[in-house]
Amino acid sequence: MMRAIVSVLALVVGVGPSVALEPNEQRGFTFVSTNCSMCHAVGKYGDSPLPIAPPFRTLHERYPIDSLQEALAEGIVTGHPSMPVFVLEVDQVEDVLAYLRTLE
Ligand code: HEC
Repeated sequence: MMRAIVSVLALVVGVGPSVALEPNEQRGFTFVSTNCSMCHAVGKYGDSPLPIAPPFRTLHERYPIDSLQEALAEGIVTGHPSMPVFVLEVDQVEDVLAYLRTLE
């Protein structure tokens, strides 16, 4: 029953941010859609295209979103060869973190 409701909701609002985003959150969403969405689920719903890549909405369950700041600025090295190393500009880090907070 819950499942049915959830999938109907997902249909209505579509995948991705369902509420109006602030400009910085929108920029963050655009960035992760372009650079991360081929492997990670970046919205509120859906599975990651690459199953071993954690959906972004689950990241805050693993650690505080703010702790990603340094990792994003210095380049995420997960030790997993399939994930490229990204080094983001300070502004981009802020935007991505702002967007990730909307998923909490
Ligand atoms: C080519 C596929 C791919 C792309 C593109 C990709 N990732 Fe990943 N990412 C992965 C995989 C696979 C893992 C899981 C690695 C592991 O568990 O060892 C992962 C894990 C992560 C983690 C969790 C790291 C941890 O230690 O738990 C974060 C955060 C992350 N990615 C952020 C990003 C961001 C931000 C982008 C875009 C800028 C991105 N990823 C793009 C494949 C990708």
